[in-house]
Amino acid sequence: MKSEQIINIARLSLAGKESDVRLYVAKLVRSLRKTEPETASALEGLLKSSPARGNPIMRKAAPTNGVIITPSTDDDLSLLKSFDGIFIEEPLLDQSMSNCLTQIIAERQASDVLIERGLKPTSSLIFQGPPGVGKTITARWLSSQLDLPFYVLDLTSVMSSFLGKTGNNLRAVIEFAKTHPCVLLLDEIDAIAKKRSDEADVGELKRLVTIMLQELENWPSDGLLIAATNHPELVDPALWRRFDMEISFTNPLEEHVKKAVIKFLGPDLKDFEPWIGLLVDSLNGTSYSNIKRTILKLRKLKLLNPKNFEENALDYLLPDVSSLTRTERINLAVKLVSDFNLPKLKAAKLAQVSRDTIRKKLMKQLHKDM
Ligand SMILES: Nc1ncnc2c1ncn2[C@@H]1O[C@H](COP(=O)(O)OP(=O)(O)OP(=O)(O)O)[C@@H](O)[C@H]1O
Ligand SMILES: [Mg+2]
Repeated sequence: MKSEQIINIARLSLAGKESDVRLYVAKLVRSLRKTEPETASALEGLLKSSPARGNPIMRKAAPTNGVIITPSTDDDLSLLKSFDGIFIEEPLLDQSMSNCLTQIIAERQASDVLIERGLKPTSSLIFQGPPGVGKTITARWLSSQLDLPFYVLDLTSVMSSFLGKTGNNLRAVIEFAKTHPCVLLLDEIDAIAKKRSDEADVGELKRLVTIMLQELENWPSDGLLIAATNHPELVDPALWRRFDMEISFTNPLEEHVKKAVIKFLGPDLKDFEPWIGLLVDSLNGTSYSNIKRTILKLRKLKLLNPKNFEENALDYLLPDVSSLTRTERINLAVKLVSDFNLPKLKAAKLAQVSRDTIRKKLMKQLHKDM
C-alpha cells in the first residue's frame, strides 16, 4: 500500500467521514486484489465485520445470493427484497440516458479523486416513466455495475401491510440501507410521496414524506438510492429536488423498437427476418416489456405450430380491421402486399377489401412514383 493511500485513509477517518472511508477502502480492496491479495482480503474482512455506525438491524438481515425476504420475525425489514449475484444485461436506453448512467459509474470509479476535492459521487436518483420501460432493470443493472447488493422496497406493499406502522418500517429500511452499502430501489415512491398539499392525505403520508426528506439529505456516497415512479406529478416537489439526478424513461422510439425486436428475437432472428418490418410497425409506440412479451409469444407460436404460424401471427399483429375505416383497410392491405410481400388474395382477406381494390391502389401508387 502506498503512503499516499494511508494518508488518504487517515485524513478521511480523522474528518469523521465514515461513508467516504468505506468507499475509499472498498476501492482499495479492488485495486489491491492482484498486487496485495492478503491486504485486500483483510480490508474486505474489516468492511464486512464492522457495519457502519453499528446498526443492529443489519445483523438481522445479512443478504445472501438469490432472492431473499428478510426474516419475518422482524416486520421492520420483512418487505425489503434482496436480489444478488445475478447477471444483468445492459438495458436498451437512448443516448442521453446511457450518458447519465456512464457518468454515475465513472464518478464511482473515480470517487477518491472527487472526495479529495470535496465532491461526492451521485448517490440518489429518481427514475420516472411509464410502466415497462426499464426503470427496475436499469436500477438492477447499475447495482451490478457498481458491484453493490440490490434491494427493492415496494412502497405500495409497505403502505398496505403496515398501516399505522409504516413510518417505523420506512425508517428501519432506510437506516439499514444507509449503513450497508447497497443500491436501494424505492419503487412506486408516489405511494407515499404525494404532494403534501393534497387534502386527501392523511397525517401518516405527511409524516412519511418528512421522514424521506430528512433521510435523503446526505445519502452516503458508498451507496445509491434510486426512487422510481410512474406518476411524477404526485411526488412532492420538495422531495423531488433532493435527488442528485433525475432520469426520464420513455417508450422506445422506432430505432430502439427495432433494436428491441432484434434483441428479443435472439437465436430466432434469421427465421423472423421477413417479419421484422411488420413487428416494428405494430409494436411502435409500446413499451419494451410489451415488445418482449409479444416477441416471445410469437417465437413460441412458430416453434410449436409452424404450419399455421403466418396466419396466427398476422392475426395477432394486425389491428382489429373492423374498427378501421375503408381507407385505412385499403392502406393496410397495400402495405401487406408491398412491404411484407403477402399474396394479394391473402392481404385482401386479412384487411377485408377486395383484391381488385388492392390492385387498383397499387397501380395508382406505381403511376405516382414514375
Ligand atoms: N430499456 C429496456 N431494455 C431492455 N429490456 C427492457 C427495457 N425496459 C424494459 N425491458 C423489459 O421489460 C421488463 C420490465 O421492465 P422493468 O421492470 O424494468 O419496467 P419498469 O419501467 O420498472 O416498469 P414499472 O413502472 O411497471 O415498474 C424487463 O424485465 C425487461 O425484460
Ligand atoms: Mg419497475
